[in-house]
This record gives sequence, C-alpha cells and structure tokens, in this order.
Amino acid sequence: MARRDEDQGKTSALRAGLLEWYGRNRRDLPWRRSRNPYAIWVAEIMLQQTRVVVVVERYQQFLKRFPTLVSLALAPEQDVLAMWSGLGYYRRARMLHKAAQFVSENLQGNLPVKAEELRILPGIGVYTAAAVASIAHNEPVAVVDGNVERVLCRFAGWGAGSRKGGGTALRRKVEDLARRFLDRARPGDFNQAMMELGATVCTPRNPQCAACPLMPECKTRGEHKTARRAAMTSRVAAYALVMRATPRPARRRGGNTQQMLLVQRPAQTTVMPGMWELPTLLHAEVPASELRMTLRHAIMQVNYYVHIRSVGEEDVEVMTAAGGERRWVALHEAAGMALTGLTRKVLMRSRLLPSPAMDAIARRRGEAVV
Ligand code: ADE
Repeated sequence: MARRDEDQGKTSALRAGLLEWYGRNRRDLPWRRSRNPYAIWVAEIMLQQTRVVVVVERYQQFLKRFPTLVSLALAPEQDVLAMWSGLGYYRRARMLHKAAQFVSENLQGNLPVKAEELRILPGIGVYTAAAVASIAHNEPVAVVDGNVERVLCRFAGWGAGSRKGGGTALRRKVEDLARRFLDRARPGDFNQAMMELGATVCTPRNPQCAACPLMPECKTRGEHKTARRAAMTSRVAAYALVMRATPRPARRRGGNTQQMLLVQRPAQTTVMPGMWELPTLLHAEVPASELRMTLRHAIMQVNYYVHIRSVGEEDVEVMTAAGGERRWVALHEAAGMALTGLTRKVLMRSRLLPSPAMDAIARRRGEAVV
C-alpha cells in the first residue's frame, strides 16, 4: 500500500474510533439534546470561559426565560444580565443580546446558517461560528478551542519544547491539522467528540491515555511541555454586608419581618457596567465591623482575596465608598437582579440566597434546606 493510502487508512480508523468513543462516553448535557441553532449558540457562548457544571445550571434557566431568539431580542438588557449572573464575563451576554436584536430586526429572526455568515454577528468569532454551524447544520468546519488545541498538540507532539515557532505559527498548524482530521460526514459529532476528549480524557493534568481512542497514533502519550500560562496575580478587595429588617408586606408569606439588603451600582465602571454589587469598604481591615468571610474569586488573571464584613446601617456612610446608585432590596428581589458573580457567591455562601450546591450538601447531612 502506498504511504498516502496507509496514512489515510490510519486517519479513518482514528476518526471512527473517536466517534465510537464519543457515542459511548458523551456526557448527557442539556444542549446536546437539541439541534436548535439558537439553543446551541447560547450554550457555546456560555461555555466560553465557564465550566460545564456552572453552565448546566444557568443554561436551563436562561432558556426557560428566553426560549426563542426573538424573546431574547425583546428583553431589557438588565433582564439578560440578571439571567447571566454567576457566569461572569458579562460582555458575552451583552453581545449575545445585541446579536439577537440584529437578527430579529434585520434577518426576520433567522440566525444565519453558514459559519462565514454567522461571523458577521457581534460576539461570534471563528470558534463559535464553527461550533454552531457544524453542530446545528452539519457544516464541515473544524472547531479549535483550548481543549482541542491541547489534544492535537499532544497527538502531533507539538509543544513549547519543539521551538519550531510557537504562537501564531503553531496555532496555524493546529488549525490545519484540525481541518484535515475532521470527519466531513459527521462534523458536529466529531467536533464535540474532540472537545469532550479534551475535557474528560486528555486533560491538562493526569490525562487518561489508556482510555483515549487516539492513543494508537499519539506522539506524546501523556503530559508534555507547553508554553507557560500567564501567572496569576493577587489583590485584596473588601465589601460590606449591610442588612436591615422591615415589616413584611401582607401579601408575602412568612414571619412579620423581612430581611433587606443594601446593594449598589457604581456610577461608571468599565469592568461590569450595570451590575449590582455589595457596597465597597474603604479599608479591608475595619476593626469595628465583624469579618463574615474571606473568599477567593478569580477574574481573568487576578485572584481577588475578598473580605466580607458586616456593617451596621449607622456606619455605612463612614465605612463604605460613596458614589453610584444605592438601593435597599428584599432578598427575594436581589435573587432576580443583575448581581455580579462575586455578590451572588457571597449571598449564597451566607445562605441568604438559595444555592443548589449548598442545598445538596445540607440534604446529604439531613439538614433543612432554606
Ligand atoms: N465546550 C464548548 N462547547 C462544547 C460542546 N459542544 N461539547 C463539549 N465541550 C464543549
């Protein structure tokens, strides 16, 4: 057999092995039960920079609130941000909303079909366009996300150690290999299989090579030397938890009083415009106020070590930074607002908002779920 035929035979066998592996091992994720391009688009935007477990929970709530592209286009931006709360990187939500409005106003509500046409929409880059077009319409375009890039670099033995051009040149080689490897009959399944392999088997640490369908031809078979990731830096931040009790409106069930929380929306900020958060403390160390918790919250390359202190209403003016808009809200109202991910995390950990993860732990311990 000529060399070329032999290579093609090996490639076909690998593709078939990968698809078979995917059929047996794919996780049952909500967006995989749909071929609706809108639903797939929403999932792919959420999955960028956010872990699958977090997306699963938010995705279903988002689609319940905005079941169609037109319903999303017609919603106020604050509602879209509220439903995005906890996913972070809010620019993605704004772009998704803008793109839905564009499609609704200019394309009769029909999302373009071809990857190349999808790319004219705000927030849709090469990756999202290829994912939506291949999964929803079976267009033979290869997806290369971080997971796929790692799988292919290990497979081909390419890494920082090879010194044959990192950065753009390496990226081009990876994209070219992804195109050649793509199964043109089942591109949607193939792309998802590659992403799934990277997420579950060919993981950054401790890859499970014995379970990998690409192992027979893999040049690396394990971890290999790659370019160093940007180092994380640390910063300290501090917020005030300010609560008051007020009479409960007669129409709401419960006791005679309800807990109100002070939230603020900074006047101008480039980081999370329009989002509500806890009032910021002027100093992280405030002796007169009680430390409720310290938590780590990562945003991009920064680890924030966040101090949360209880502050009495009478001390708010002297202890927290002024400016922007402030509002007292009942906790059930706060749950539906566009809160920053950090604020939602603090409220969940304090058990002031329901948290599926904390509730599951409480249930396991036989405690009552609030
Ligand atoms: N990551 C992003 N999109 C994905 C998908 N459709 N399947 C698996 N992992 C993904």
